[in-house]
Amino acid sequence: MAETVESRAGNTAGSRRRDAADRAREAAVEAALGKLDLDAKARLLSGQGMWSLPALPEIGLQSLVMSDGPIGVRGVHWTADDPSIALPSPTALAATWDPALARRAGALLAQEARRKGVHVLLAPTVNLHRSPLGGRHFEAYSEDPYLTGRIGSGYVQGVQSGGVGTTVKHFVANDAETDRFTVNNIVSERALRELYLAPFEAIVENAHPWGIMTAYNSVNGTTMTEHRYLVNEILRGEWGFDGFNVSDWMAARSTTAAIEGGLDVAMPGPQTVYGAPLAAAVRAGEVEEATVDEAVRNVLRLAARVGILEGAEPVVTEVPETVDGEALAREIARRAFVLVRNERQALPLKPGRVALIGAAARDARVLGGGSATVFPSRVVSPLDGLTAALPEGSLTYAVGADPTEELAVADKGFELRAVCRDERGQVIGSGSAPNGQIQWMGDDLPDGVTHDRLHTVELTGTFTPRDSGPHSFGVKGLGAFTLTVDGTTYFDDVQRTDKDDPFEAFFGAPVPRAQAELTAGEPVEVSLTHVIALPEGIPMKVVGFALAHQEPRRDADELIAEAVEAARAADTAVVVVATTDRVESEGFDRKDLRLPGRQDELVHAVAAANPNTVVVVNSGSPVELPWRDEVAAVLLSWFPGQEGGAALADVLTGAHEPGGRLPTTWGSFADAPVTQVAPSDGELRYSEGVFIGYRSWERAGRAPSYAFGHGLGYTDWTYEAIEVDGRTATVRLRNSGARAGREVVQVYLAPVEADPERPVRWLAAFAGVEAAPGESVEAVVELPRRAFEVWDESSGSWVFVKGSYEVQAGRSITDRRVAAAINV
Ligand code: BGC
Repeated sequence: MAETVESRAGNTAGSRRRDAADRAREAAVEAALGKLDLDAKARLLSGQGMWSLPALPEIGLQSLVMSDGPIGVRGVHWTADDPSIALPSPTALAATWDPALARRAGALLAQEARRKGVHVLLAPTVNLHRSPLGGRHFEAYSEDPYLTGRIGSGYVQGVQSGGVGTTVKHFVANDAETDRFTVNNIVSERALRELYLAPFEAIVENAHPWGIMTAYNSVNGTTMTEHRYLVNEILRGEWGFDGFNVSDWMAARSTTAAIEGGLDVAMPGPQTVYGAPLAAAVRAGEVEEATVDEAVRNVLRLAARVGILEGAEPVVTEVPETVDGEALAREIARRAFVLVRNERQALPLKPGRVALIGAAARDARVLGGGSATVFPSRVVSPLDGLTAALPEGSLTYAVGADPTEELAVADKGFELRAVCRDERGQVIGSGSAPNGQIQWMGDDLPDGVTHDRLHTVELTGTFTPRDSGPHSFGVKGLGAFTLTVDGTTYFDDVQRTDKDDPFEAFFGAPVPRAQAELTAGEPVEVSLTHVIALPEGIPMKVVGFALAHQEPRRDADELIAEAVEAARAADTAVVVVATTDRVESEGFDRKDLRLPGRQDELVHAVAAANPNTVVVVNSGSPVELPWRDEVAAVLLSWFPGQEGGAALADVLTGAHEPGGRLPTTWGSFADAPVTQVAPSDGELRYSEGVFIGYRSWERAGRAPSYAFGHGLGYTDWTYEAIEVDGRTATVRLRNSGARAGREVVQVYLAPVEADPERPVRWLAAFAGVEAAPGESVEAVVELPRRAFEVWDESSGSWVFVKGSYEVQAGRSITDRRVAAAINV
């Protein structure tokens, strides 16, 4: 029942058909290209707005539409009015260690994209977990390039099997957020090849992506949108990538260097370094028209593949079978949950009373912040999920601790709409804004509203408090605002920043501006008016701001005491701890790995009151768990997507086992390999070379809290034997527990002679197996040639390192059960 390594090679008849279709598409592309004049070509390479390229009716080309990714398809509107299925975070998808499941996730996203008229998904993110501080850690897969490449390949294959393109991002070394627009990452050639480029290379090889996105940052002195060497020589030249290369949003800064550096499309528009400036550069003799043609060819090829170029047959001609998005979101979540500790078989829960504790148990945190944000039509919280699954009367709930130390975008209890006015105060249109956040990009404005006429936007409506007490209100955004709550104007001034990130209005902290004493259940009027001043330094029109809110802060000691009481009265205490959107998001990095607020204290106290305490960790990336040895069980739920609470109930009750294994080492910040993500003098040196993640933990001889690959499930596995024949490894194992289960057989390669230049061991292959109790199964894996190679900087090539190795198989990098010696 072992999975085989995914492969592009089909049967010969199938590949002949594909070759013929490719040739026909190329012919259509050449014919279309031949009909375009220079201005039209230059125009095609420049966004016409936030998410699309212009249509060119003269060649029968429709407008190509792109959308974020990676856990859902937002579409071209940034609003809850246009909901999307929200899958678990990419860290969760990687924790399934299941490329076939990633492929199914991709197929669902293609279905979502088609529903929303999107041709290309701005995903997957395959940067590495270099440091746990990385703000977008939750959005990438793993610290290991091989695992990242396998999951990313499955994802890309799935999306493209639905006829929708992908843009593997962010090429390359965009592994942290601090000064991301300007940072110059200094990375050795060897670390680039063996770590940061490796997932891109594997995905190009195995999944043939139709697009790539070049990053904001520089690598070794050249910004990635101009990186001829990495893009033209390596990506296209060596690896044979034939897709399109789109800039990250606003990353393209020059006309000539970008087009020479292999950048095909500059996004977003309408003003970019391409379009008219590109045509002018050709006319001035600074750029060859043939170079522009090459970029246009790449865009037309993509258009042909997704079916928007007349006369070209799309790659996928039949609409694939419909996928049930909610069911798949739930399945992925439970397959991703990692049970890292389970003393005395605390899980699954035994019948009895359960005290559910934690702010995130009620207000679930299902996704990470930034461009990955989508708006699901429903969210199943842990409280919802357990209420539905447990017998009536057996569940109590207590907040315990409030992790939100700052205000957050207005959400529960608010009913708001956006009213747009012109300079004379006349209403010119209105739009819905259910959650207090306005993000209108380009011309995506409410009906009848244009940027020329728009003077103010008022978020107005009611707020019905859930609790009585002092409620805080605030403003997120830059510029002039007037904030009124229940008839009192609390703020009427300009909000400024000293940061130079052009997305500061999106990623900046909300500023508290009002405090009003309110009564539970009694609605009050709220209004936030913003005078539009389009941000400087952004070549596009964006209206972005939010009304922020924070519930009355109850006395923290009292909250903990209440939770302890609830825990004492129950048979089991389930505590959900979480990070917040001010901790894990695009736009900034973390400062430490602590859980915000007094959540650690809460867990210590609950664990002292009830030995049967189960902690659910709701975060996208590693956090420190200082109480981990005091509690009975620890389950990592990542950002579990919209069905997270239902999946949690599935796993806690034992209807399903938690299937995840750690895709990244979890440990304390003090011991983490890379703790510096802020550049100095504009440079960030990757001085650790190839030693990130477990490669570093093992070299340093440090024990993390939970090792790479660790995860328990609900049954047990006995590894019986390993045989290696050539490069095929066969591992025999038996389900020695009491219930059916799934195991991820991990195969590591370790040189017998220690070599200080190489890690102690590394992941070479893995496979998932399933077995009934008592049943034996075999996992058969191929050890890729690359697992034996290192990048030799002096010759600029891969070198196969001959010698003696141990092939070690087991349950994690530290829990290795069988080994075989080989000589290669
Ligand atoms: C992010 C990309 C994203 C793009 C469009 C950028 O800021 O880095 O990942 O696809 O915005 O939203």
